Amino acid sequence: SLKTTVAGIALDCCIYNASGPRTGTVNALVKIGESRSGAVLSKSATLLCQDGNPLPRYKEFPLGDACPGSINSEGLPNQGIDYYISEEVVSAIGSLAKHYFVSLSGLSLADNLEMLSRAMKVQGIAAIELNLACPNIPGKPTMAYDFEQMDAVLQAVTTHPSFGSKPLGVKLAPYFDVPHFQRAASILNKYPIKYVVCTNTIGNALVVDAENEQALIKPKAGFGGLGGAYVKPIALANVRQFSQLLREDIDVVGVGGVASGTDAFELILCGAKAVQVGTKHWSEGASCFNRISEELSVLMTKKGYKSIEEFRGKLKEN
Ligand code: DHB
Repeated sequence: SLKTTVAGIALDCCIYNASGPRTGTVNALVKIGESRSGAVLSKSATLLCQDGNPLPRYKEFPLGDACPGSINSEGLPNQGIDYYISEEVVSAIGSLAKHYFVSLSGLSLADNLEMLSRAMKVQGIAAIELNLACPNIPGKPTMAYDFEQMDAVLQAVTTHPSFGSKPLGVKLAPYFDVPHFQRAASILNKYPIKYVVCTNTIGNALVVDAENEQALIKPKAGFGGLGGAYVKPIALANVRQFSQLLREDIDVVGVGGVASGTDAFELILCGAKAVQVGTKHWSEGASCFNRISEELSVLMTKKGYKSIEEFRGKLKEN
């Protein structure tokens, strides 16, 4: 069985989609819901709809014959919060018997609080994922790297009158230094959040097209979030660190470079209660959730595991 719980929400399958790729419209969300994906997570919403950055703003790129990664600077193209919490979208996903998670990435604290209060009121939304890790808005820092701002945002959000009717999760940026893991965890541990998602893309990477002597994507002079196989070891490290540093009652969801059942297995070994898929969902479509889930099932059977709790977090040191 691939069953798990995230924030106390029971999921039939521990594999589901990351926010971002193929998550902007009801059609795309329904395709996820119709697959084996354990939940359906929306594109990060802003208060108002926005078109995002100029194209091309998402590319996959090769290393030899393989295509291990992606770079994006989409700039939060999305339909606005009222779309993602609308009756149309919520009931379409509900009718597929899948839990619906909504991601919020406001352009200001006031926008986050307004979106939070609207989303908290809507029946049929299981949980809210507050994204503190978007690296792609020109002129704005990645909030998860500004610890004082992160602390202030979590303080404001968790004491807001609308807070409390649904579990709140936080999407984090990747960290690379032990004191940063410790600082982030000590902030997160102060607040009544129910889960974290580790990690967003590695922000502000640059991929060069040598033939044309230019950056691969257009926005932000080519700087964008790096995803795919390049980021898996960083995701593994972040999941492991936060699993050990956060309060027992904060679940860790892993995301970063998952293309196979083995990749998902590795994140669960490091402590993840569920695993999201981003880049592979973009390139392969929603059937990736069927394939990766089946691969994880086969691997567990081969190893004699009947549930993910039998190996979750049990990574051995070498
Ligand atoms: C976008 C990218 C992100 O990594 C994110 O967390 C939110 C939005 C984007 O460019 O649209």
